[in-house]
Amino acid sequence: MATIKIRGGQRLTGTVRVDSAKNGVLPVIAASLLASTGETVIEDVPVLTDVDHFADLVRSLGARAEHQPNGRLRLCAEQLTTSTAPYELGRKMRASIWIAGALLARTGHFRVPLPGGCNIGERPVDQHIKGFEALGATVVIEHGYVEGYVKGRLKGARVYLDICSVGATINTMLAATLAEGTTIIDNAAKEPEVVDLANYLHTMGAQIWGAGTDTIRIEGVTSLHGADHTVIPDRIEAGTYMIAAAITRGDVFVEGAIFNHLSSLCAKLREAGVEVEDNITGIRVRAKDPLRAVDLKTLPHPGFPTDLQAQMLTFLSTVEGVSIVTETVFENRFLYIPELRRMGVDVKTEGRTAVVEGVAQLSGAEVAATDLRAGAALVLAGLVGDGDTIIRDVDHLDRGYGDLVGKLRSLGAHISRSDDETSALHLVQAN
Ligand code: EPZ
Repeated sequence: MATIKIRGGQRLTGTVRVDSAKNGVLPVIAASLLASTGETVIEDVPVLTDVDHFADLVRSLGARAEHQPNGRLRLCAEQLTTSTAPYELGRKMRASIWIAGALLARTGHFRVPLPGGCNIGERPVDQHIKGFEALGATVVIEHGYVEGYVKGRLKGARVYLDICSVGATINTMLAATLAEGTTIIDNAAKEPEVVDLANYLHTMGAQIWGAGTDTIRIEGVTSLHGADHTVIPDRIEAGTYMIAAAITRGDVFVEGAIFNHLSSLCAKLREAGVEVEDNITGIRVRAKDPLRAVDLKTLPHPGFPTDLQAQMLTFLSTVEGVSIVTETVFENRFLYIPELRRMGVDVKTEGRTAVVEGVAQLSGAEVAATDLRAGAALVLAGLVGDGDTIIRDVDHLDRGYGDLVGKLRSLGAHISRSDDETSALHLVQAN
């Protein structure tokens, strides 16, 4: 397992450019399966293990997926050979359920490993199934797989999602593009990645209105074709660098960050006393003490993103006063807190609420990442911890942060990575 080592105490300064959104690229790859003719080229695809696994997944269905120079991913799904996803590939990533809607619409059948719970919550898929059934599919869960089929075409319908779920909105949208007639999704997720997917589907020939609002309307068409697309910048990666600037009391321009996608984070950083300046090409974040404690609650977009909760809590642990952080999206997203406590963070949790009291200094420690964003929080703590921090299980970070170490180093952080644990430990002793 790889490790990251950080010597804390450097104020970050300079410019960092964000990649295309991981959570935007994956649904676009899934949507490319809808195209019975032509190729899709996705530009500026980030180098992430989740993207590689997803490309392997569509290849296993008979589609072509070729990584090309300059971050291009070329996809062609003209000839699919199966609508069953192999367990080994499907289980690596919860997002593999997103191929279900596209396969159902295109082939009338899907069989995908039922995702299990994970380190942030149970994460059922009942709302995905609700969407498919509303469109006329029969769905069964058997032998660890979720399987759906329909005779002929799916039929457009009105679907109310009980939970404002990103994944269920995406899957229902994908299925509805080739259904007969009109589909309306009520209580749809409004995340920017849903809007980006709708834009891509539109260029493939789909007819979709209202993405980014609570109600999405889709008029089904009989076929879709491949199309080129550049995915929006990664708002969670951008937000993580913005918080890195704030926690180190630095001055960083996050190139590519879009204010409208990050308005809740910008608002909370400003409430804390951080200077946030947005312009057309990115967002500049400048921070110096004294800063103020703030309360926040995670919510579906445009509320505060759950994927920045751990990073923001870590920042608040360095600000004088008491902050209250409430997680409402996932039921188990405080698992990283015991690791943060080992670095001196003063935090108490009660159910989905964490009470954080700012401390004057965090301390470096040996810790382990429990998931992707938890790993990012530990990196942030390491940037300001006294002495050395060694983070284990950083493979989680490779799922969502391209060249994290290189980017932080370019901002002045003392950070290195080792894919061999013993040499990372040796590095610390040598320093
Ligand atoms: C997406 O997950 C993202 N994943 C998550 O990113 C992100 O945290 C989440 O949306 C919320 O923004 C990808 O894009 C690959 P949901 P998703 O369906 O679609 C419940 C990251 O770190 N629910 O919006 O799985 C669910 O349990 C990650 O990059 C049901 O009850 O999230 C959760 O409590 C992790 N039934 C809530 O809804 C369902 O059928 C929101 O989940 C579906 C969801």
